[in-house]
Amino acid sequence: MNKNVFRLSILLLVVFAICMTTLPETTSARMPGGIYYKDTGELERVRFSHSIHLSYGKTCEDCHNKIFQKRVGRADVGNAMTMKTMGEGKFCGACHNGEQAFSVESDCDQCHFR
Ligand code: HEC
Ligand code: HEC
Ligand code: HEC
Repeated sequence: MNKNVFRLSILLLVVFAICMTTLPETTSARMPGGIYYKDTGELERVRFSHSIHLSYGKTCEDCHNKIFQKRVGRADVGNAMTMKTMGEGKFCGACHNGEQAFSVESDCDQCHFR
């Protein structure tokens, strides 16, 4: 085989391998768009958007897995994710504390909006 063709195919293989191992973590390929939480009493259901959070510069590691598991509904097993636990700094409240992001204790409509 021509040496250059050989080198080129090795290069392509390496690029392909790098893409296969890094893309799923760095793009939205395996990440759900809208996650809806329903147990909100009289208020509108809460929508969590991955893309909005990424647009504010958050990375996967900011949330996974120290705040949230990669499994929809996991946080709320046993009704653990409530306004009270979030007010104590858990789940959304880890950031939505009025410092890193608007507080769970004030801007109700920002989360309970549709
Ligand atoms: C601001 C926080 C935050 C960031 C940043 C974030 N996620 Fe998530 N992710 C969540 C929440 C919240 C859930 C739902 C967890 C729950 O309901 O217990 C979730 C769930 C998931 C799930 C499970 C989907 C399913 O159908 O069960 C995957 C996969 C996932 N995230 C991938 C990612 C990837 C990949 C990134 C980085 C590109 C990322 N997430 C960044 C908060 C985040
Ligand atoms: C950062 C997003 C966010 C903000 C801001 C927010 N909530 Fe929530 N709220 C949630 C989430 C997430 C749940 C849990 C939903 C579930 O478990 O299905 C929830 C649940 C609730 C519930 C159901 C019972 C309970 O206590 O958990 C009530 C009532 C509620 N919120 C009221 C409010 C009020 C009133 C405000 C404003 C003072 C507010 N929320 C602000 C995200 C938010
Ligand atoms: C790792 C930190 C972090 C976590 C965890 C987090 N958020 Fe956020 N969120 C942010 C930041 C930062 C912003 C943008 C700053 C702001 O709006 O105050 C934001 C913005 C938002 C917005 C406004 C989006 C817009 O239209 O501008 C909503 C709604 C929201 N978050 C809901 C949630 C809900 C619901 C959860 C929990 C399921 C959650 N967030 C968990 C950091 C976080």
